[in-house]
Amino acid sequence: MSAHIIDGKQIAQQVRNQVKAGIATRIEQGKRPPCLAVVLIGQDPASHIYVKHKKQACKEVGIESAAHELPADISQQQLISLIDTLNQDTAVDGILVQLPLPAHLDTTAILERIRPDKDVDGFHAFNLGRLAQRIPALRPCTPKGIMTLLRSTGVDLYGQEAVIVGASNIVGRPMTLELLLAGCTTTTTHRFTRDLAAHVKRADILVVGVGKPGIVKGEWVKPGAIVIDVGINRLDDGSVVGDVEYTPAAERAAWITPVPGGVGPMTVASLMENTLEAAIQLSP
Ligand code: GUN
Repeated sequence: MSAHIIDGKQIAQQVRNQVKAGIATRIEQGKRPPCLAVVLIGQDPASHIYVKHKKQACKEVGIESAAHELPADISQQQLISLIDTLNQDTAVDGILVQLPLPAHLDTTAILERIRPDKDVDGFHAFNLGRLAQRIPALRPCTPKGIMTLLRSTGVDLYGQEAVIVGASNIVGRPMTLELLLAGCTTTTTHRFTRDLAAHVKRADILVVGVGKPGIVKGEWVKPGAIVIDVGINRLDDGSVVGDVEYTPAAERAAWITPVPGGVGPMTVASLMENTLEAAIQLSP
């Protein structure tokens, strides 16, 4: 068998087109464009690239982006003050603090300071709690985008064995909640999991977000599975690969995401959806 490729670039474009149309309708109704405040601390090159993609997407769909680029030595109190200002600013619908933050800053305290109804990353405990209780509000962008990819396959998710490799706050944990909400039987593996291969071999739906190239061997993939690879790893030769051994996995899977061009563009597309959603909530 050779897997169908799940084209994240194309599906992300469809999502952005829908957001663009939704914003155009609001403008016709006399409303202002949604506004996303993007907070970027320090000089991490990957973060600068991600933020650039987010700003480009905003421009394409008609969201105003307000960049706050601040030095790496900013204090916790200065950053909290900025968040407070953005929370109170009625011209701002969404607030995004690009991660990772420099080590001296308390990431949890910063993320928890963001007003939940402006938390377009969906990282606040309020929004994760809503997802856990089956009353989702703003949903974390990468898992939300992955759900859009899974739905695009047309495969019925109810009762499927879903295995999530990696238990991060950004990907693995909220992904588990999304798949549980969608009716899957979920297993989340992490660094203390004893037999990763045994879990992966049972997966009808496999989502891998660890950041280690080839941590999932192609031969572990169950024939007919859907494989979602969240990893983006740059090798010494400059090439970019995921966390799953792509070629042998694609021979066994029914559906697979490429890296790049799979999950990556969906994270940004979901952010556009969330920003419009936040704007609608704040000004219906
Ligand atoms: N760093 C890596 N992924 C993300 C994300 O989805 N949102 C933010 N804010 N930072 C990230």
